Amino acid sequence: MTTDTRPLGTTGPHVFPLGLGCMGMSGMYGDADRPESLATIHAALEAGVTLLDTGDFYGMGHNELLIREALRTAPPARREQALISVKFGALRGPDGSWLGYDARPAAVKNFAAHSLQRLGVDHIDVLRPSRLDPQVPIEETVGAIAELVEQGYVRHIGLSEVGADTIRRAAATAPITDLQIEYSLISRGVEEEILPTVRELGIGITAYGVLSRGLISGHFSADRQLAAADFRSFSPRFQGDNLTHNLALVEALRKIAEQKGVSVAQIAIAWVLGRGADIVPLVGARSRERLAEALGALDVTLDAADLRAVEEAVPADAAAGDRYPAPQMAQLDSER
Ligand SMILES: NC(=O)c1ccc[n+]([C@@H]2O[C@H](COP(=O)([O-])OP(=O)(O)OC[C@H]3O[C@@H](n4cnc5c(N)ncnc54)[C@H](OP(=O)(O)O)[C@@H]3O)[C@@H](O)[C@H]2O)c1
Repeated sequence: MTTDTRPLGTTGPHVFPLGLGCMGMSGMYGDADRPESLATIHAALEAGVTLLDTGDFYGMGHNELLIREALRTAPPARREQALISVKFGALRGPDGSWLGYDARPAAVKNFAAHSLQRLGVDHIDVLRPSRLDPQVPIEETVGAIAELVEQGYVRHIGLSEVGADTIRRAAATAPITDLQIEYSLISRGVEEEILPTVRELGIGITAYGVLSRGLISGHFSADRQLAAADFRSFSPRFQGDNLTHNLALVEALRKIAEQKGVSVAQIAIAWVLGRGADIVPLVGARSRERLAEALGALDVTLDAADLRAVEEAVPADAAAGDRYPAPQMAQLDSER
């Protein structure tokens, strides 16, 4: 297993090359198993993982409270190595409904104050708006986080799912450590303009959806029963003919994985790891078994021939279906 670290941009901390995304432990992909979630966070820290990613709206605070519990029950050295990345801004009702975004300066400080309490920490390592609030100039949102940095409540400023213009405006306001954005074998839109922009500005990438929410993990099948609230039950890539098409891509990848004696998920994660040392994939493992598989990707090297085979199996624009349903796609500044 690697002992290397990767920088979160030129101004951020160095982190273990894979981060743990905790969202799936709070209901986004159906019910989660609390003891197994806690054990998974502990196992990740034990393996050396440093970056834990959450959002205050994942389970309406549930995810932050879960992380608090995991850190409280972890050995002190493990607790101290953890860096917590928090997204804010999404507004939700008690029934889990999505009510829009709020990234006004007062809201930024209010969300941060609540996150600090829920997490039981005196500072947040990276704080980021989950989406661009169309009513609020990014300078105001980032400016408010910069004030929290000055006051010691936040260490670093991140962004999420924003496009090149917004990234430039944010970076002109305050140092930005990383952009969190979907990047995988079947979600390669970032390569055209966003990746060159962050590289020019010295901003890192925390890549999410590297397994396309399980679709290209090699474990997903068309007969999987999904709860109504599971994101995948309404995600375009998991519907009807799109799903059939996308799972055929996975079978093509499986042949390559089998030849290399690794799993499909490991190929998909290794591919993102190989896109640059400035990219830190966030894996959404919510069991120790899935985590171990994901960590195994660190030992997988894709040589030039492997990369050619992977690109042939899954060409850049091979996916059928958008990565979000239409109303959510419309909220992505990164897709404009
Ligand atoms: N900024 C944003 O807009 C944004 C959006 C989404 C997510 N995120 C962050 O990114 C993190 C990762 O995103 P994600 O959960 O969508 O990504 P992902 O890693 O592409 O998908 C996770 C899903 O893949 C499945 N899976 C199968 N094998 C796996 C393995 N070996 N390791 C990990 N997962 C495996 C899991 O399956 P099971 O069903 O078997 O558990 C889980 O449902 C989230 O937790 C969240 O912190 C950010």
